[in-house]
Amino acid sequence: MKHNSKYGMSTNAVHAGETRYNEYSAITTPIVQASTFIFRNTKEIQRLPAGAKDRFEYGRYGHPTQYAAEGKLAVLEGAEDAVLFSSGMSALTTSLYALLRAGDHVIITDDAYKRTLDFCKTCLPRFGIQCTVVKMGDYAALERAVRKKTRIFMSESPTNPYLNIMDLKRLMRIFSGTGVTVISDSTFATPYNQRPLEFGVDLVVHSATKYLGGHNDLLAGVVLGRKELTEPIREYLKITGGVIDPHSSYLLIRGLKTFDLRMQRQNQSGQAVAEYLESHPAVRRVYYPGLASHPHHQIAVEQMRGFGGVVTFEVEDDTPYVHRFLSKLRLICIGPSLGGAESLITHPASISYYKCTPQERRKLGIKDGLIRLAVGIEDTQDIIHDIDQALRAVSRSRPRARS
Ligand SMILES: Cc1ncc(COP(=O)(O)O)c(C=O)c1O
Repeated sequence: MKHNSKYGMSTNAVHAGETRYNEYSAITTPIVQASTFIFRNTKEIQRLPAGAKDRFEYGRYGHPTQYAAEGKLAVLEGAEDAVLFSSGMSALTTSLYALLRAGDHVIITDDAYKRTLDFCKTCLPRFGIQCTVVKMGDYAALERAVRKKTRIFMSESPTNPYLNIMDLKRLMRIFSGTGVTVISDSTFATPYNQRPLEFGVDLVVHSATKYLGGHNDLLAGVVLGRKELTEPIREYLKITGGVIDPHSSYLLIRGLKTFDLRMQRQNQSGQAVAEYLESHPAVRRVYYPGLASHPHHQIAVEQMRGFGGVVTFEVEDDTPYVHRFLSKLRLICIGPSLGGAESLITHPASISYYKCTPQERRKLGIKDGLIRLAVGIEDTQDIIHDIDQALRAVSRSRPRARS
């Protein structure tokens, strides 16, 4: 079943993009582990149509397992085309390089994945591409930032770590008809919770390493949208070489089979954990778009189906306290990333922003008491119980720690 929109998301997650009868009639899509595809004779080479999707030549130009995974992702996102990469960063950087020229201008929101911001602020200017960073949610500043040479607007929704939500309707009122290509990194939302292309966004990017892969066992990235935009990106990928390998393509296909089920559980646990944390006296603040207290709750309700498995919260602004809390966790693993089967917790000040000085972190809004939890698919009550026992343990150990 290649492209079939008459089915629901879970059916598409299981079947879309894959061929019903494979070699040897195996039910699973084969991992075609080959770097080279050979020809019987030179006539066969001459007959090879440009851009053929059913005849292969060299792994960097595309391979069968990649194309099956791309077909599934395109159906899930409601996109005409999907291009897979070896990582989310490869998808982002290759797309920007493919679409930009020296002299162009890019706008990006300040609340974006750190490496994406680094790329836009430090790498693009080396190639004569200017970048303006605007405050997430400041739509007036965004309008002011647009120049004659603006080619791309790049943002995320929800953002990391504060889970801010971009108002996609408002965004498209600014950019529709301007010729600016609007790119949305939808990693935290996934096509289960939000479909930016339906709002008029031009390209959606995901770190497929996260919810799409879903098992903390692969690195991948994908860009989705109209073919007129994805084709130049695919061509550029053939030069830059950040192709996904056959085995990761297969893991992605396999991970996606349970995408719909995983998202249901992660949405439900995310909401329950956020509500639990909000009621806990040791927790100062919770950031979760499904909570009425989140500044963008209303926009989230209007444009999202669910709010995902990432919950960010603040405890006492004290790194040793946070470290003691993390060390007391028995089920939730300490580590970066999100969207996998296993719950993961991270302290941004000690992991993603450890190279920054405390002043730089404060400027970026990364407090020492900030914690990001990415719930997995364990039982909701077990996740809550683990946090609860760890918070109790740190409060019990508090007087001794002070003396
Ligand atoms: C929102 C977002 N975009 C892109 C990336 C980069 O993805 P990858 O790690 O697959 O290169 C990440 C990684 O954490 C991310 O969180």
